[in-house]
Amino acid sequence: MKLWAGRFKKELDPRTNDFNRSLPFDSRMYRQDIMGSMAHAKMLGKCGIISKEDCNKIIDGLKGILADIDNGVLQFDDVSEDIHTFTEGELTKRIGEAGKRLHTARSRNDQVALDIRLYLRDECDTLIEMLKEYVGVIAEKAAEYSETVMPGYTHLQRAQPIVFGHQLLAYAEMAMRDIGRIKDCRERMNVSPLGSCALAGTTYTLDREYVAEQLGMNGVTQNSLDGVSDRDFVLELASALSIIMVHLSRFAEEIILWCSGEFRFIELDDAFSTGSSIMPQKKNPDIAELVRGKSGRVFGDNMALLTAMKGIPLAYNKDMQEDKEAVFDAVDTVEKCLTAFIPMLDTMRVNATNMRKAASFGFINATDCADWLVGQGLPFRDAYKATGELVARCIELNTSLEELPMEEYKKVCELFNDDLYNAIDLDKCVRDRTVLGGPAPSQVKFQAENLKKRLEKI
Ligand code: ARG
Repeated sequence: MKLWAGRFKKELDPRTNDFNRSLPFDSRMYRQDIMGSMAHAKMLGKCGIISKEDCNKIIDGLKGILADIDNGVLQFDDVSEDIHTFTEGELTKRIGEAGKRLHTARSRNDQVALDIRLYLRDECDTLIEMLKEYVGVIAEKAAEYSETVMPGYTHLQRAQPIVFGHQLLAYAEMAMRDIGRIKDCRERMNVSPLGSCALAGTTYTLDREYVAEQLGMNGVTQNSLDGVSDRDFVLELASALSIIMVHLSRFAEEIILWCSGEFRFIELDDAFSTGSSIMPQKKNPDIAELVRGKSGRVFGDNMALLTAMKGIPLAYNKDMQEDKEAVFDAVDTVEKCLTAFIPMLDTMRVNATNMRKAASFGFINATDCADWLVGQGLPFRDAYKATGELVARCIELNTSLEELPMEEYKKVCELFNDDLYNAIDLDKCVRDRTVLGGPAPSQVKFQAENLKKRLEKI
């Protein structure tokens, strides 16, 4: 029997049943639905809208349902339209009359808006914990590789020397902003829409704040139409998740490159690599590739949500039922990606020798050579030009700036002397970049340590 029996003379056409139902995917919000109903029932009891006796019966009944779903004693059926209908139907089956009073001064419209807020709030907490773990692993690795010199790149061309720890810390900064975005979004979603009812509030004298308090929410929504039709928090979360995937995907891309025979900067643990069915020598970074690939899926969810919401007149429309599968998929995907990515990162092996070798080619100390000339009094533009000529000369002679003889330097500029060789020593080039946020080992160690403190404050 459908909820709206009374006005209708026919059952829903069987061909639209599955199409209309959301229970197969909104059943995952059963806990939030039941907690919300308990808070609502308590408020109805406190305000004298239902009797204390009915209130207690409802609470006990709901507790039983929650426990039975948790233990697998109670299973979701294949007829109920959604989780709200299922729970209310089951309650009435168990406690009779009182169960039918639960939905006083409430609509599924404000109920679903509450449930999804509560559900996503919990997911935000999980995501924040996972991201903290991720940053923690990066901080550890960064400290471990704070002296491992490698080339820093622009345009994927060797640019200037850095250390591997510094490169890793860049991803930690991205993740710290990701945590901030999830926290902001959690804050805004954590208000109760109950009391908005279908769209126009209610004539009952409710205590909306009491419901919010019981659920650990920061307050209540301020407009009943907005209360039931706002899904900004879903869009915000999906956007924040998309940005997380941008970051993971960029990192995955680098890991894939670094594993290649052309780079050989790192090796992934066997437990996080796969082989080929035909090529016996292959060891493939599938996990990183999947993370890169799954970013498209989360962006798709984000786009689906924006598109579903954009043309909806106020207030509730059934289009909004489409919010769940998309946002659940985005959350699940990001959590799965992090679950695989964190230990993959934690177990990777670093080939410091190859990183160092790569840093020795490509004239990545050319800027330091120019800076040395500036130290001798030459304007930077002139120093830049002189160094450019030296690089060209090195290419001609198939050598490096470190090995180019002093007479070649002197031909280009009188100011050169043997001190130059100290200044362009790779280790020194990195060591002296102590500017805040720079790649000097001392700075990287400080930043790695500081990250741990920043994490504690979250
Ligand atoms: N299953 C619905 C959803 O997810 C619940 C709200 C239904 N409200 C309604 N008026 N049909 O959006």
